[in-house]
Amino acid sequence: MEPVKVGLLGLGTVGCGTVDVLRRNAREIARRAGRGIEVVAAAARDPGRPRPCDTRGIRLTDDARVVVEDPEVEIVVELIGGDTLTRELVLRAIELGKHVVTANKALIALHGNEIFAQAQERGVMVAFEAAVAGGIPIIKAIREGLAGNTILWLAGIINGTGNFILTEMRDKGRSFEDVLAEAQRLGYAEADPTFDVEGIDAAHKLTILASIAFGIPLQFKKVYTEGISGITQEDVAYAGELGYRIKHLGIARRSNGAVELRVHPTLIPQRRLIANVDGVMNAVLVTGDAVGPTLYYGAGAGADPTASAVVADLVDVVRVMTTDPGNRVPHLAFQPDAITDLPIRSMDDVETAYYLRLRAIDRPGVLADVTRILGDLEVSIEAILQKEPEPGARDVPIVLLTHRTIERRMNTAIREIEALPTITAPVRRIRVESLQ
Ligand code: NDP
Ligand code: HSE
Repeated sequence: MEPVKVGLLGLGTVGCGTVDVLRRNAREIARRAGRGIEVVAAAARDPGRPRPCDTRGIRLTDDARVVVEDPEVEIVVELIGGDTLTRELVLRAIELGKHVVTANKALIALHGNEIFAQAQERGVMVAFEAAVAGGIPIIKAIREGLAGNTILWLAGIINGTGNFILTEMRDKGRSFEDVLAEAQRLGYAEADPTFDVEGIDAAHKLTILASIAFGIPLQFKKVYTEGISGITQEDVAYAGELGYRIKHLGIARRSNGAVELRVHPTLIPQRRLIANVDGVMNAVLVTGDAVGPTLYYGAGAGADPTASAVVADLVDVVRVMTTDPGNRVPHLAFQPDAITDLPIRSMDDVETAYYLRLRAIDRPGVLADVTRILGDLEVSIEAILQKEPEPGARDVPIVLLTHRTIERRMNTAIREIEALPTITAPVRRIRVESLQ
């Protein structure tokens, strides 16, 4: 049988990785898909630039629209990134009746509802495994492997760049900026790396995970998002002394008829498996009512791991492209008419435990004032760490771990603590999760 003809939009880290994997594993891929998969056309901004992959036999252009319109192309693989041009290209491919594979989480998180509705109407597939957690087949695991469960909650390290930065800061004492520059060189970071470090990329991915886990529409704007750029070496060290690691987590939880969606740095007990997921690796914990907790681990970014997910999607599409669209796995795991718009819980109402780092003048009674404020608000303290003053400093760092409380109450406590005349700097707050 003739190979399936693919058009590639983008020949960067993931685009070239995809060309490489398709060539390297051509025989295995054809044995699985039932047909060969051949890239016949590709677009890049500068198609004349030397590439780390073998582009022989591929028609190259600087106009992505030419690839989409190419009558020979049956499947369009979008690996450009961003959500403006790519939305136009993907919607056009769908209009032309072509199947789409994309690694673009921003596109799916922001425009997925529209894209999937159009794809459903046109009877084409839009596959996006590579959009979440790089090489880990997490979309397939939740959408298919856990289809018998009511998913209760999930929590994941879903940005490779951020995890790489936190790991190198902790293990090697390297600076934030230095490690970020290395992540960019290695092809892990987004075109705009603030997406990685400010949690936007993780929020895109959490939007997608929550939708396929709970059967809710994609709603990126409702994700509470906090990045890792404020994490200091001090926090990393104090967390370690208390038996915790700081990880940048995306958390989605369904309870009492509402869903919480949040991305923020989180202290996790060192003994949890997920606390030991380091470097560019990602991991997602998913808890279903029937299966209990499950954990998925693998490379979260990089050329080959991401290409692994892109090619798996291609194989899936090739296997079922001739079947009745009504019998395919729904894009967002639930039948489109069964997607339910559950309310998203306000961050003020989320309950969690807290790490608080204060700087206070070293004089009797200061700690009593702080504990009185927390006590009055019924926030109970689990541990206190008071450090020696640094030479010449008039204030000392104090670290507190609290039991679980409502965020609104903690906001009040922090305001009152910061108003004390003995507190010399803003309180640093990091949320703590036991993940049990
Ligand atoms: P790169 O920046 O490495 O590659 C982007 C490619 O798109 C380049 O080849 C670039 O051309 C091309 N391109 C950009 N603008 C245009 C345009 N207007 N017309 C035609 N081609 C264009 O990005 P990545 O490969 O890292 O990422 C691609 C997608 O995959 C993004 O959505 C990203 O979020 C996602 N992703 C990335 C992962 C990673 O580890 N890097 C992991 C998972 C998902 P040129 O090379 O000439 O500049
Ligand atoms: N920039 C992303 C990351 C790429 O570092 O996780 C993978 O989605």
